Amino acid sequence: MPGPQQISAAEAARPADTTLSRIYQRSCISCHVSPASTAPLVGFAADWAPRLTQGQDVLLQHARDGYKAMPPKGFCSDCSDQDLRRLIEFMSTPIHIPPPAKEAA
Ligand code: HEC
Repeated sequence: MPGPQQISAAEAARPADTTLSRIYQRSCISCHVSPASTAPLVGFAADWAPRLTQGQDVLLQHARDGYKAMPPKGFCSDCSDQDLRRLIEFMSTPIHIPPPAKEAA
């Protein structure tokens, strides 16, 4: 399970590209920053690693056509395959949580 810092990092993350970021916030963020949704958490490597082994084409297919509780196109009816590929790349890129800063002695 992701820790609270990992969840905060997921909530804060946005694609660098403005247009992609808008799509992401409209369509994907509601589920993919919430472990309770059972969606793989944005940036959480442990959630994505087993899925990435399927290969990008299968991930795209699942995102486009839907897969279990993942709705077709994640509610982004106007997303192109290219949009979905870029969103998947963003969401599955690990966000590394730095170790807690040492208290000044
Ligand atoms: C209504 C909630 C919801 C929304 C909105 C949503 N997802 Fe998902 N997504 C899920 C859930 C739940 C899963 C896990 C499905 C499973 O494996 O049981 C998932 C899984 C995935 C997977 C992994 C599929 C696999 O083969 O393992 C990808 C990729 C994905 N989502 C991309 C997206 C993208 C891109 C968007 C936005 C365009 C999005 N999702 C929006 C709920 C959502």
